[in-house]
Amino acid sequence: MCGITAYCGNDFALPFLMQGLSKLEYRGYDSAGVTTLESGQLLTVKCKGRLKNLEDELTKYEIKGNIGIGHTRWATHGIPSNLNSHPHTNEDQTISLVHNGIIENYRELKEELIKKGYQFQSETDSEVVVQLLDLYDAGNIFEATKKVLKKIEGSYALCIVSTKEPDKIVVAKKDSPLIIGKVNNAYVAASDIPALLEYTKDVYFLNDLEMAIMEKEKISFFTHDGQSIEKKLVTIPYDLEAAQKDGYDTFMLKEIYEQPHVINETLRGRINHQEIVLDELKEIDFSKFNKIYFVACGTAYHACLCGAQVLEKAIKIPVTTTPASEFRYSDPLIDEYTLAIFVSQSGETADTLAALRLAKQKSATTIAIANVLGSTISRDAQYVLYTCAGPEIAVASTKAYTTQLVLLFLFAYYVAQQLGKEVDHALIQQLSHIPEYVHNILKDHQVFENYAKMLENLHDAYFIGRRLDYASVLEGALKLKEVSYVHADAYVAGELKHGPIALIEAGSVVIAVATQPHIAAKTISNIQETIARGAKVILFTTHGEKVKNVENTYYLPDVAPTLQSILVAIPLQLIAYYTAGIKGCDVDKPRNLAKSVTVE
Ligand code: F6R
Repeated sequence: MCGITAYCGNDFALPFLMQGLSKLEYRGYDSAGVTTLESGQLLTVKCKGRLKNLEDELTKYEIKGNIGIGHTRWATHGIPSNLNSHPHTNEDQTISLVHNGIIENYRELKEELIKKGYQFQSETDSEVVVQLLDLYDAGNIFEATKKVLKKIEGSYALCIVSTKEPDKIVVAKKDSPLIIGKVNNAYVAASDIPALLEYTKDVYFLNDLEMAIMEKEKISFFTHDGQSIEKKLVTIPYDLEAAQKDGYDTFMLKEIYEQPHVINETLRGRINHQEIVLDELKEIDFSKFNKIYFVACGTAYHACLCGAQVLEKAIKIPVTTTPASEFRYSDPLIDEYTLAIFVSQSGETADTLAALRLAKQKSATTIAIANVLGSTISRDAQYVLYTCAGPEIAVASTKAYTTQLVLLFLFAYYVAQQLGKEVDHALIQQLSHIPEYVHNILKDHQVFENYAKMLENLHDAYFIGRRLDYASVLEGALKLKEVSYVHADAYVAGELKHGPIALIEAGSVVIAVATQPHIAAKTISNIQETIARGAKVILFTTHGEKVKNVENTYYLPDVAPTLQSILVAIPLQLIAYYTAGIKGCDVDKPRNLAKSVTVE
């Protein structure tokens, strides 16, 4: 995720660009930059690091341009650096652009352009767009953009300026947000409404496969084919605080609903036909490992429990999952034939960091799976894979968890692929459609709100599942207790009668997950034992299972069993969310918790 801003008007462009970038910094903050057009020339200033670095750098210039574009970056291709920062310009310094999204076919395009003699400054996918524009530009940047859009695949919000037409900005959108605002004497654009609100509440929403030409006092809209279209100016009814939540009451709900999008972002560019592409790991020789550890805390640990099972099954090498706080004191058996993977949304968790350092000291090969770019864990590990969940603001992790699952599954099948093991291509195909399934499950929110009402007056809730479903219920129980303060415990379903069933009495609520065909029937018979003792059961299962006497059964979509762990996370998150809401809890900031646990 990145944030972009654009200004075309009669005042100086820079103040709008910078205030917009500060509102969008939540979308990415590993580097930032601006280009302004002044006296027919481009002035581009960009800096690695937080926006503050750019602000400091800009004090060295007197910037008076009335047209400009800005960008705050969350790197996906190429490390955070000045060269990889946006805006990107062509060699002649006549065209500059900012891009949010991922150009999936950039490798092929880059090769073609190199053959034509183009030289690339950066490692980014975005730079191919500016080089292609250079190739097609015959004095009309709109026409050149239309040609480029036909060549590129993937997602983009683009804002483009050219010195040959110094009075306009061309913008285009597909699968990445872009909103245009109308100000008295200017048109402005940004990735998100908060960046516009200080200037205007009157906006045009650009749809996918639409373009616009912004001029000082004129705006024109087109399809990607160049057909002129009309758009309605909409007045946004809400203020800045509400806009940051995008119309949702809380960040947690917003982040739950962002999951189809961020899962898509995490998948983007990583599945190429039948092949999984994780170029970040291409130097690793996976055949040398005889032992693999997954290490993490809390929700990330639950994601690892799933990832480890899938990896072990795929490559038939022992895989151990350990909470970081235990790992660091367990004198783990590590040598140079050990691979250790550390999963952390924040990339700053003290226990996970200490565990990583220990593994490195003992000569393991280390990989970080992180969400926050440039975080300590991502820098300390030898290799890093990023989830593309974007900043997670609610303390309770939701979208980070499902994107971790997605990346861990990609990782497992990538390793299998590298080792020449059989990979279930049908499953990989389904994985690329998971965002649609998640989207559909979210539509059933009312069902989950009704389930939450069953928990309203309870002190305890019991979660059960087996194998992958056990990891899912551990996460479901954690979510419920942290946001609603209902005491929730998760049990391996087969362990119930070895003790915990003593707690079940009339009115107890048992939440069961039974999505793994080889053991679902066993879990379903375990819930019958709780029903016999008066429990009310909420069951998440699949259509193939025979279910009797369970009033509250939710059937998950028909996808590969492994992928059910991603899908079932959604209802479990929503049950926790609605329970907290009914009880009047502060879901975004639960008591006693912090977003990033940087102490032991
Ligand atoms: C629960 C939650 C925590 C974190 C844990 C690890 O909703 O957010 O359990 O998962 O503190 O944090 P990271 O992933 O930042 O290392």
